[in-house]
Amino acid sequence: MSKRNILITGGAGFIGSHVVRLFIEKYPNYNIVNLDKLTYAGNLENLTAVENATNYTFVKGDIVDQDFINALFEEHQFDSVIHLAAESHVDRSISNPMEFIQTNIIGTVNLLNAARAIWGKDLDGKLFYHISTDEVYGTLGETGLFTEETAYDPRSPYSSSKASSDHLVRAYHHTYDLPILISNCSNNYGSHQFPEKLIPLCINNIKQGLPLPIYGDGKYTRDWLWVNDHARAIDVIFHEGKNGETYNIGGHNEWKNIDLVHVLCDTMDELLGRAAGSARELITFVKDRQGHDRRYAIDASKIAKELGWKPSVTFEQGIKETVQWYLDNEQWLDNVTSGNYQSYYQKQYTD
Ligand code: NAD
Ligand code: TYD
Repeated sequence: MSKRNILITGGAGFIGSHVVRLFIEKYPNYNIVNLDKLTYAGNLENLTAVENATNYTFVKGDIVDQDFINALFEEHQFDSVIHLAAESHVDRSISNPMEFIQTNIIGTVNLLNAARAIWGKDLDGKLFYHISTDEVYGTLGETGLFTEETAYDPRSPYSSSKASSDHLVRAYHHTYDLPILISNCSNNYGSHQFPEKLIPLCINNIKQGLPLPIYGDGKYTRDWLWVNDHARAIDVIFHEGKNGETYNIGGHNEWKNIDLVHVLCDTMDELLGRAAGSARELITFVKDRQGHDRRYAIDASKIAKELGWKPSVTFEQGIKETVQWYLDNEQWLDNVTSGNYQSYYQKQYTD
């Protein structure tokens, strides 16, 4: 296998850390530089398994700083970028959109500019792979699925900033011939996810006997994919994807929030040896999210047909393994929920 010199951005976050671990372990002859600002969502504890690997370098830095990004590309002469760094939580985008504009839009353009500058006309073997979300497509009614042809219709500051970055990546491909790939994935679940997102938040709250806040009527629907399967899809797309193409990634696994939380409650009761039904008593319906998208669901037939990828586990397997990971990694959960998390939680759920 040929050598690659890859910049992974956001590799200390939830999905990024799974991608970094997968690439370091699977491709010992690739050089991987992980660039991460270490925001509240970035955590080097996610990477202890690979931190001493000889093909791995961590760099702390901000993609919004163009001079710094240019210097990093000069120093390392990357041939590929897998771009995951982003502000990723919809609720935070509602209370503070500007961080999302800066990191998700300006930060992405800074990386595109640096790649263009360093690669010039020598584009052979070069690749800018941008990781995006199904939320750019907007919201679905009771039926239908998002395909790669669905028109963009983002409705939150988060999804609008991601849509904007997707458009810019495509624009650099069409205008400057930059070799690019984009994938749009559905909601991920799994180990190492910051407990502001629904699943780890509920796991943490059940463990502590705290209320489980369900927005609105609880019938909002998401299509959940195990994060390890997303990382596997990124691996396949990075190696086999066709220049300029977009691939949707999803689990064919739709759940209404309330039904999903019931599964979490019952799994936790079982694994903690608590009385059946006790966690469900913590469910509390709270004020709805502003502009809450009703339903997301992905048609993942293109990646299945063209690249042979499909999810490797059932939801039942994935969720049990996930809950068990949070129970086994109490220290990780305690570390990420100390400090700033408390003031975030207070503001989001009790003010
Ligand atoms: P995350 O919030 O867990 O991690 C984001 C990482 O980016 C963190 O390590 C953070 O420190 C880093 N970062 C943030 N701003 C930065 C900056 N200015 N410069 C450098 N690093 C910065 O996010 P995630 O859930 O792992 O998502 C990763 C990517 O996948 C994002 O682009 C997101 O839009 C996309 N995505 C996420 C999901 C999901 O369900 N979580 C689904 C589809 C797509
Ligand atoms: P989230 O994990 O924030 O992902 P996204 O908004 O990107 O899909 O939320 C998943 C779903 O769960 C979404 O419909 C909002 C809902 N939700 C709650 O009902 N309560 C909560 O406390 C959170 C964080 C989310």
